[in-house]
Amino acid sequence: MTQDEMKKAAGWAALEFVTPGSIVGVGTGSTVNHFIDALGSIKDQIRGAVSSSEASTERLKALGIPVFDLNDISELNVYVDGADEIDGSMAMIKGGGAALTREKIVAAVADQFVCIVDGTKTVDVLGKFPLPVEVIPMAREYVARELSKLGGQPVYREGVITDNGNHILDVHGLAITEPNVLETRINAIVGVVTNGLFAERGADVLLIGTPDGVVRKGG
Ligand code: A5P
Repeated sequence: MTQDEMKKAAGWAALEFVTPGSIVGVGTGSTVNHFIDALGSIKDQIRGAVSSSEASTERLKALGIPVFDLNDISELNVYVDGADEIDGSMAMIKGGGAALTREKIVAAVADQFVCIVDGTKTVDVLGKFPLPVEVIPMAREYVARELSKLGGQPVYREGVITDNGNHILDVHGLAITEPNVLETRINAIVGVVTNGLFAERGADVLLIGTPDGVVRKGG
């Protein structure tokens, strides 16, 4: 089974968490793209979606799924998204696709976060995947110096502008044993928009695509 087939299995398994007649929170990435395709197969049974990126919005609309502005939505019962890494406490590193800020906003509104991954994404300790940090462009070098003081090696993701018009620093070399603490600490650096640690608001349900089928944790 290929990695993409495992992503697809997890993406389609998340349909189980979609309530008929609801608006669905939709993340970003190659795993979520499979979930969007799955949503397309039941589009007549949902009101629509709230999206976490321009890329997902485009894909949703291409399938004829209405996309709502988050400001017009007062509640969202589920948010489905992928992750770059997820640990045993359901804390995640996200932002490999640079969509971390909008992802964190939509996740904050949702009652339930369903994380969909292939089997390569589960880890004991977060940090092997470089931690993305979205920064206001003029603050980039200042934030990089502050991140170095925390023990990481920030690398500017050149050529990438986020959907919010900002830059991304990828922080290498961190072994993140207290993700909640680091999430709060990095977010307190002036010029940081947000960082890719999703620990304060981790996943509630994890669906892992494996060669033996989809393994479920939580929920
Ligand atoms: C997007 O910014 C990320 O948070 C994605 O959710 C994450 O990178 C997972 O992406 P894939 O599903 O493509 O691995």
